[in-house]
Amino acid sequence: MAIRTILTYPHPVLRQKAAPVIEFDDKLKELVADMGETMFAAPGVGLAANQIGVPLQVVVIEQSTAENTSFMALINPVLSNGEGSVVDDEGCLSVRECQAKVKRFRKIHVTAQDVEGRPIEFDAEDRFARIIQHEVDHLLGTLFIDRISPLKRSLYKKKLKKILEQDEE
Ligand code: NI
Repeated sequence: MAIRTILTYPHPVLRQKAAPVIEFDDKLKELVADMGETMFAAPGVGLAANQIGVPLQVVVIEQSTAENTSFMALINPVLSNGEGSVVDDEGCLSVRECQAKVKRFRKIHVTAQDVEGRPIEFDAEDRFARIIQHEVDHLLGTLFIDRISPLKRSLYKKKLKKILEQDEE
């Protein structure tokens, strides 16, 4: 396992549509293990493969309990039957120094495959549903800042410009 570098906006791979996974091989298992490790190290609650520069339809979602730390991998996820809506704060490991209110479905139906290629299907609600929607957006090249008001987005772009300028100094 290895911690991979998380790419940040405006890196172009974050805008790329991820391709479906066809081969459920050892390379995929390694990718998923690395993504879990990278997410926990960040620390974050979800990570999409394109955030580490791999444009494949793979996301990992934190699923820890009081007893142990673990995560769920969703390969080729598809969301349907969105119900209700909730506005809550979101941030992203690929969007530096930004938190904003984003509207999401309260409940969704998820179909995907696990790392072995076996089908998975379940309903997700509330925070869990929010994280899944955020991560699946990544696979479509969408970031949460695309879902905030144009004014807030332009303020963020100005702030980021300053951050990037400071990085160069
Ligand atoms: Ni994100």
